[in-house]
Amino acid sequence: MLYFARPSLAAELADQLEGRAVFGDAQNGLFLAAPRRTGKSMFLQHDLKPELASRNVLVIYTDLWSDQRRDPGDLIAEAIARELQQHLGVVAKTARKAGLASVTIAGTLKVDTSGIGKIDGTTLVQALRTLHETAGRPIALIIDEAQHALTSEAGETAMAALKSARDQLNTPAEVALMLVMSGSDRDKLLRLVNTNGAPFYGSSIHKMPTLGKGYVDHVTALIEAQRPELKPVDHLTLLEAFQLFGQRPQFFHAAIGQALNPLESTSGEGFEQGVLAAAKEKRAQDAAQMRSDYLGLKPLEQAVLWRILAVGQNFRPYDADALAFYRQQCAGLSITAQKVQAALESLRARTPALIWKSARGEYSADDAAMHAWFGELQATGQWPPAAEPEIR
Ligand SMILES: Nc1ncnc2c1ncn2[C@@H]1O[C@H](COP(=O)(O)OP(=O)(O)OP(=O)(O)O)[C@@H](O)[C@H]1O
Ligand SMILES: [Mg+2]
Repeated sequence: MLYFARPSLAAELADQLEGRAVFGDAQNGLFLAAPRRTGKSMFLQHDLKPELASRNVLVIYTDLWSDQRRDPGDLIAEAIARELQQHLGVVAKTARKAGLASVTIAGTLKVDTSGIGKIDGTTLVQALRTLHETAGRPIALIIDEAQHALTSEAGETAMAALKSARDQLNTPAEVALMLVMSGSDRDKLLRLVNTNGAPFYGSSIHKMPTLGKGYVDHVTALIEAQRPELKPVDHLTLLEAFQLFGQRPQFFHAAIGQALNPLESTSGEGFEQGVLAAAKEKRAQDAAQMRSDYLGLKPLEQAVLWRILAVGQNFRPYDADALAFYRQQCAGLSITAQKVQAALESLRARTPALIWKSARGEYSADDAAMHAWFGELQATGQWPPAAEPEIR
């Protein structure tokens, strides 16, 4: 299916990053959150990146989830180093020819010519400054899944260095370093901005607009062009289905493909109803999966996860209130801090992990969808989920 571009959103964000918006604070860093699979990475790479590039901005994109085995701090440093090496290519090549292992630029920064240099916190600032000087234009650093940086010390250091680089390079007259951080979990991204010690304290997180109606209209037009006999396509039903799919194009595409497949027997209703039915089923399946994950946990693990879901950012695993809560949920069990720690570890060690932990010991549900699931059940008086009665 053809890509649905969002040029006006990209232009708006680029304006903000360049500090052209009268209000707003994107020149200090733009933080964007949207749920998983809703098109963040595609937008950043195929809409925002070209828009910034057309404004003569040097764009560096890195996805901290691209390789889960690598330290996020290294991934950030490497992305910058790779760009820097390209700009210094000529200098470096000459140095290599002359048999030098490294070259020193502007008297301070040493660049490893044998491969991609590893840059630490202090030199990261210098590397960005050198890149800005050699490129002679502003730099935009787009960090996808930025919350992942908080899971390692090197990642935290890199974030602090980026903040420092931003403060050193940007002047009231020019935004030389634009930072865009995106993530699938607002709650985790918040840890970058919301405490005094957080690297980007004071910045706020924006909800990245999801694809929405414009996208569904685009898909509707494609279907009508390819299958004129289906005109008029009931776009409102498709929109409802897309929303039920959590605005995730992948599942929506698959369901449309299936509903349009002549080999699939249809009940005589329009294919739109087939897509809607698939969306409802997917939603029920997702909820059933979370429910069975939850019910499969040991009592203390359930209590800990419940507490995380219930108090969110205020979660303190071992405070008196938390311990009292676990005891109340696990009547008859003796609860100690060690047992709580073991429960937290086992929730984190599962594949897929149920909880997320930052390098500073902050916790959150790994999948933000779990918060929504919890909220919905709680609002409708169905929490905690009870085991299905056994069918005899
Ligand atoms: N603008 C678009 N038009 C058409 N399809 C899209 C668009 N954006 C995303 N998609 C589809 O949705 C899928 C998910 O997109 P993407 O990887 O950008 O989401 P994401 O939010 O970054 O997901 P994750 O949370 O897994 O990183 C893509 O593989 C693509 O098929
Ligand atoms: Mg992504």
